[in-house]
Parts: sequence; structure tokens; C-alpha cells
Amino acid sequence: TNHAELIARLPKAELHLHIEGSFEPEMMMELAERNRIEIPFKTLEEAKAAYDFANLQEFLDLYYQGMNVLRTEQDFHDLTWAYLLRAKADNVRHVEMFYDPQAHTERGVAFGTVTEGILSALERGQQELGITSELIMSFLRHLSEDDGFALLDESKPWHDKFVGVGLDSSEVGHPPLKFERLFAKCRELGFKLCLHAGEEGPPAYVREALLDIGADRIDHGNRAMEDSALIEILRDSQTPLTNCPLSNLALCVIDDLRDSPLKAQLEAGLLVTVNSDDPAYFGGYIGKNYEAIQKALDLTDEQLVQLARNSFTASFLPDDEKARLI
Ligand code: HPA
Ligand code: ZN
Repeated sequence: TNHAELIARLPKAELHLHIEGSFEPEMMMELAERNRIEIPFKTLEEAKAAYDFANLQEFLDLYYQGMNVLRTEQDFHDLTWAYLLRAKADNVRHVEMFYDPQAHTERGVAFGTVTEGILSALERGQQELGITSELIMSFLRHLSEDDGFALLDESKPWHDKFVGVGLDSSEVGHPPLKFERLFAKCRELGFKLCLHAGEEGPPAYVREALLDIGADRIDHGNRAMEDSALIEILRDSQTPLTNCPLSNLALCVIDDLRDSPLKAQLEAGLLVTVNSDDPAYFGGYIGKNYEAIQKALDLTDEQLVQLARNSFTASFLPDDEKARLI
């Protein structure tokens, strides 16, 4: 059968997408001009040439530099809208989107400017494209727990707009337990907890996220596969893992897509999903991630259907909505 056709046809949910990571160089150049900001490249080719990463930190340095161009509510609206159009083209029906407010407030862009720009585009996506969405406010783990508490406080007027909170940025040296009190507070407030763990960090970080913090989802989770007891816990609890194949390849988490743990995770009965992470930087949106990993791991039609079903099962949609979308 034609896998690309099946992939295009399958309704999908995207659960691991950083909206700032969907900032395409074309739009970056456009907004740089609109906002009269200097950027370090003049052509698309120069931008793409810089997107050659040896690890997570090399990517993050460019990611934070790129978003410096985003200044106004309209910028955040336009960024989010452009992503939603691409998601629509890939038959995404539901998205649970991360954003990194601290990366904007730190450089003087107000929390409300960022958040309202994104929210108005998500609302428009629901109205005009029929894509439902949730927003996940992510804490930067290279900053302190107190910085996290300050963000939680600043975001208070918008708390009913977030389904959950996340933890991202530089992983090694910043274990989940650094944020134990913060996540306990977030849980108390009713937020779902989504933690990046086991992308570069050891299996112990996945254990902390799951067993000490009580994560509802593990983002990436690749290195959980080094710990057989942890694999059993993930299977028994059906805790979702949001795998990002092209991200793993671009950040050298794996040397080859054939080394992706995704098929082994499926075969072990884990609730694994396919996502794009930072598609403007890693070479493809969700459809391309499905296509690339299908090819590399020779996934069957049944496995592709399972992955798409998993994406809804692993979402924070209410059960009746899941049933309607699957
Ligand atoms: N890992 C950690 N932090 C991030 C990522 C990622 O893949 N993308 C954006 N922030
Ligand atoms: Zn991520």
C-alpha cells in the first residue's frame, strides 16, 4: 500500500510542538523587517546552513536567538496561525501546544502579549479550520525553581487557558526534582504535568518525572528504553511518550532514524505517539515525521493506525471527544 496516502488520510493529534519552534526562516526574515530588528542571516540558505546541530544545546542557542524577532501580539498570532495552516494540511484535528513565556518576558515582551497572540490564533483555528487545541505553559529548566514560581504567579489571570504545564530547555544537569515544589503546586492547581525527560538525560530523569513528580506525559523519553523495570512501569501505567523522530535525528539523540526506539516502544505496548517538536528547525511537520519513521522502521499500516489512535488516547481531551475523533 501507499503509506504516504494512509498517513495523509489519518486524523492525528499533535502533542509535542513548541510554537516558537515552528518559526520558519521566511517568516523570521519578514518579521525582522516589520520590527526593524537585525538578524544574523540574509538568505534562506544562510539560515538553513546554520540549522546543523550536534546536540540539544546547539539547537537551543539558535532557537532562543530566532524568537528574539517576535515582539508584538500580532507576531505571535501570525506565528501560531502559520503553524495551524500546516497542521491542517497534515490532517491534524487536535493540538496541545507548548510555549516558553520566560524566553519572551526575559527580553521584555509582556506575558499577556505573547499569550493573547497565541490564544487568538488558536481560537481562529477552531473557528476556521476545525482544529481543537490546548495550550501548555512550559518552564525553562535552565532557570531556577523560583523563576518558575514567578511565572506561575504572573500567569495567574490566564490559568483557566492552560490545560497543563511543561518543562523544557537544557536537560542534563537540570533534573525534574529541581522543580519538585513547583510541580506539586501546579498539580494542586489542577494542571496536567508534561515533562521533557530522557531526551539527552539519563533514565533516572524519566523515573523522577514519572514516580516523584507524577508526570501525566513524558516528552521524548527515549532513554527510558535503557531501564527494563521503567519500561514495565510505563506500560502498566500507559503513560504517554511523545516521540519526535526528526528532532531525535537533528539533535543527534540518534545517529540514524533506524535507531529510533519507536517501534520497540510500540511492540512493548507503550503508549507512544509521533510529533514534530520544532518543525521549522528539524526539517518537517508531523506528516513528514510519520513518513520518515515509517520508512526507517518499516512500520505496517496497522502500526501507523495505532500511532494515530495513540495520539488521541494520549491527549487531554475528554473521553467522549476522544471517542468522536479516533
Ligand atoms: N528539548 C528541550 N527543550 C526544547 C526542545 C526540545 O526538544 N524544543 C524546544 N525546547
Ligand atoms: Zn520538545
